[in-house]
Amino acid sequence: MTIDTCIFDAYGTLFDVTSAARLAAEEGSHPALAERWQKVAADWRERQLQYTWIRAITGEHADFWQVTSESLDYALEASGLGGESGLRDRLKELYVDLAAYPEAPAMLERLKDAGLATGILSNGSPEMLQSAAKSAGIGRLLDHVLSVESVGIYKPSSKVYDLVNRAFDCAKDGVLYVSSNGWDVAAAAGYGFRTAWVNRAGQPMDRLPWRPDHVLDDLTGVPDLAGSI
Ligand code: LAC
Repeated sequence: MTIDTCIFDAYGTLFDVTSAARLAAEEGSHPALAERWQKVAADWRERQLQYTWIRAITGEHADFWQVTSESLDYALEASGLGGESGLRDRLKELYVDLAAYPEAPAMLERLKDAGLATGILSNGSPEMLQSAAKSAGIGRLLDHVLSVESVGIYKPSSKVYDLVNRAFDCAKDGVLYVSSNGWDVAAAAGYGFRTAWVNRAGQPMDRLPWRPDHVLDDLTGVPDLAGSI
């Protein structure tokens, strides 16, 4: 089965989630952030994902904007920055308009030129995803932006991966699912998608029951991979 549909995770895959804390540090309004922004970014992301898993397992769903805000509160307190006036609001503003990775727009253009269907499948709320896609200038290159909000549970529930077939009317093995999250790409492989893990940081393979079919350094190779499967 050849690939006719390319689906992307959003946060960490198309959008650089560390850019909010880095840009806030570069702005210089909060000097204490200068040497702590990397820990803030890492704690923020780690708690954000943990909270989605716990909410999915317990059935206590709340949307990704709430989870993102609550995990940010944790991360700022963990770095002693909970009392920095205005920092929380500035980081949230920056998160709404996250930068895309530099190679993302040209990569999506190549997929569209090759006639493939493209989409996002993300934990993000519809408002967050529309805003990020617009500010990154990639909205017109995506056929569908799919949010877990339509099923009210987070990845890696199979109900989330089911959204792809509902939107695109495609076979599972005609989908190339691309994610930088090892756990997400593993679950998607278990679900039956063809999978590519974007492993920018050179992390070890997650020890889960499923493995991605392909590993890439960044997004540049996605069109060639989709055309060669
Ligand atoms: C997402 C998170 C998992 O966009 O990165 O769904």
